[in-house]
Amino acid sequence: MRHLISPLDFSVEELDRLLDLAGDIEKNPAKYAHACDGKILATLFYEPSTRTRLSFESAMLHLGGQVLGFSSAASSSASKGESVSDTIRMISCYADICAMRHPKEGAPMVATAVSSIPVINAGDGGHQHPTQTLTDLMTIRSLKGRLDHLTIGLCGDLKFGRTVHSLIKALVRYDDIDFVCISPEELKLPSYIREDVLEANGKHYQEVERLEDVIGNLDLLYMTRVQRERFFNEEDYVRLKDFYILDKKKMKLARPDMLVLHPLPRVNEISVEVDNDPRAAYFRQVQYGVYVRMALILTLLEVTV
Ligand code: NCD
Repeated sequence: MRHLISPLDFSVEELDRLLDLAGDIEKNPAKYAHACDGKILATLFYEPSTRTRLSFESAMLHLGGQVLGFSSAASSSASKGESVSDTIRMISCYADICAMRHPKEGAPMVATAVSSIPVINAGDGGHQHPTQTLTDLMTIRSLKGRLDHLTIGLCGDLKFGRTVHSLIKALVRYDDIDFVCISPEELKLPSYIREDVLEANGKHYQEVERLEDVIGNLDLLYMTRVQRERFFNEEDYVRLKDFYILDKKKMKLARPDMLVLHPLPRVNEISVEVDNDPRAAYFRQVQYGVYVRMALILTLLEVTV
């Protein structure tokens, strides 16, 4: 049985197959409409989410399956003190596959030790978010036509932003990717990503503070929200939250084919005036997230169509 805990759980070849499947689902949705008839997905969300939880639910419903679950720790038995291990043992009796989001790093990994159904990590603390990475890869491959030979700007909260950590882990396996890490000093990449992932793989990267200085060199700009819930004090958050605001003026400095991605939710870091720019790809990214989660569910349940 397979789980998805880290973006590295799939080899590059397996990822290619998964993205091909997602592409086929996009083109021929009717072919997959009953692929998961009779199957149940459980969504175990111990932390708030709109997109990720609903996109999993939408993915399973589009496959003909059904969904159950909870959307906050407060509404589950976690509030009575039940452990993740006990919850997952029980859920294994109710569902065929589950997606778990948890504020503690490693919680979905703990679940895999006792689960008799595939577990998908839907975000664990500031650590990893592999299904957002699948979404990002599908968006890049679909709109840029490749996953190699790219200069990628990662901007905002690189310290706590798990989507950035997962994306870097996945992308170091492709050729000729240049990473431009754009953040204030306090929100730089953690060393376990900088040293153990970027440097260990011999990747070229730079760390800068000013977006204006580098935006003109990028094929892709991945904006992120300052992760308020992971800050130790509100003062630091307030000081840093509006450090970057991508607006029309900054977009004028960018290449005509630079794409703007964002895992969403957006707060202030992208001005709404950018939404109508043809380079803004963050709402298209949401749609790709459903196709790729459909492909993931089929792959982990070993359903072939
Ligand atoms: C991201 C997350 O939860 O890490 N959201 C998402 O799943 N699309 C990004 C964020 O919350 O900033």
